[in-house]
Amino acid sequence: MYRQIRVVGDANADTVAVMLFDKPGPLPACHAGLDRRAGGALKAAMRRAEFSAVRGALQCLYPPSGPKRLYVLGLGDRGQSDDCSAMRIAGAKLVKAAYDADVSRLSIDVAGLDGAATPDDTGRAIADGLAIANFEFDLFKGKGDHNKPDRANKGKATRLAVSIDRSMRKGLTHGLHVGESVTLARKLAATPPNVANPRYLVAFCRKIARQVGLKCTIIDAKRAAALKMGGLIAVGAAGSTPPAMICLEWPGRGRAPKANGKPILLVGKAVTFDTGGYSIKPAASMDTMKYDKCGGVAVIGAMHAIARLKLPVRVVALVPVAENMIDKTGYRPSDILRMYNGVTVEVTNTDAEGRLVLADALAYGCRHYKPRAIIDLATLTGGVVVALGSLCAGAFCGDSKLRGHLFDAAEHTGERLWHLPLWAEHKELLKSSHADIVNSGGREAHPIQGAAFLQHFVDQKTPWAHLDIAGVSDLKNANDLFCKGPTGFGVRLLVRAVETWR
Ligand code: BES
Ligand code: MN
Ligand code: ZN
Repeated sequence: MYRQIRVVGDANADTVAVMLFDKPGPLPACHAGLDRRAGGALKAAMRRAEFSAVRGALQCLYPPSGPKRLYVLGLGDRGQSDDCSAMRIAGAKLVKAAYDADVSRLSIDVAGLDGAATPDDTGRAIADGLAIANFEFDLFKGKGDHNKPDRANKGKATRLAVSIDRSMRKGLTHGLHVGESVTLARKLAATPPNVANPRYLVAFCRKIARQVGLKCTIIDAKRAAALKMGGLIAVGAAGSTPPAMICLEWPGRGRAPKANGKPILLVGKAVTFDTGGYSIKPAASMDTMKYDKCGGVAVIGAMHAIARLKLPVRVVALVPVAENMIDKTGYRPSDILRMYNGVTVEVTNTDAEGRLVLADALAYGCRHYKPRAIIDLATLTGGVVVALGSLCAGAFCGDSKLRGHLFDAAEHTGERLWHLPLWAEHKELLKSSHADIVNSGGREAHPIQGAAFLQHFVDQKTPWAHLDIAGVSDLKNANDLFCKGPTGFGVRLLVRAVETWR
């Protein structure tokens, strides 16, 4: 795939892409100019019985004059509430076709798109599609130096220059920019657990922090033990490298008051591999567990984007990183742990480890940073996958303002959320006879148990949202946008939420 996609004023392109809503009838007036340049190719194609502008449709025309290649992309019915997702899909189809055809200069004709969404959102949505579908994880393909193009791609264009109407240039540029952070997150997610262990994640964060101007501090295992982070230490005790808490800070340059006051706190679970520990997982459930770091990876990706965009908002990220393995040093079912905030936890299941590492991060974050709001992301439970599948994440948030804000951001980025309940009664499920709470009270409502557990470690007055992303962070099957594998779910959502913070 392309190594870089960039926006230019005039691509001087031999390839043009046009996006059409369905049932366009005879050539709409807004496309008359393009059709004339293309020697009537568009009009002729639209007259044919097989012509289609359903969502996701892609046709390639070879006009007798004008552009060498004319892609016609279908958007489906106009006026749907999710017009942006149609544009995202069109962007995805387009980038794949362009790469296959060795296109290096592309012009997107957006005539007729006005009114569907704002020009900014339209530009962003197209960019999302371009960036998301331009993903391939080939770092470990055994053809020697991965920077050398392999045989199939030999001689192919590695850079794509795209031009678009001036009104959408900003949105397109922004979307591609954030897209690079999504790609960073997806690559990190896909990196195998024998490479991406806790030590690797720490080094990775140090490196990108230096590159983009984030402050990065590490609470290593020794310091975590001194701080009495009992959850993080226990979960990581048997890991191939020691656990750690990664702290990334963006100061929020600028004069806006939100740049200075209390930070927004992002927390992401990064379990680099989850065997389940002594409550070991069956083999079939273990094989995707390198993706158990996806909450942390999404937060890292979001911070990467926030810094590169220099958003005028103060943001702090905490990523507890540990490997849940089996060894004589590992923690056991029935161990009792004392967490950072003093709450004691009886371990009833070592496979409910995510909440243990998050608990210390949340409690430390609340005490240390006094955040204005907290958003945590975690591949926390298999139950949320059973309940919601892979089309949306489960969202727990008792604060209606924060919830509205996040759901609005999700609507814009197409990373869908579904609100799940967390009531006082749910805390009953975590009663322990020997400690304050257990880490798992069995299968009943277990995604909610996860949220109820975390609530013990969050300052009650701080607006807090917990997103269980177990179903959406890696896909078993490709869809219109994503290939099979890591999605980077949460990166665009968090960036949008921070960027539009009021
Ligand atoms: N990492 C898993 C959750 C998970 C499952 C993520 C499937 C992605 C796909 C988590 O640590 C876990 O094992 N959760 C247990 C909790 C249970 C012991 C209460 C689960 O879901 O079974
Ligand atoms: Mn687990
Ligand atoms: Zn896990």
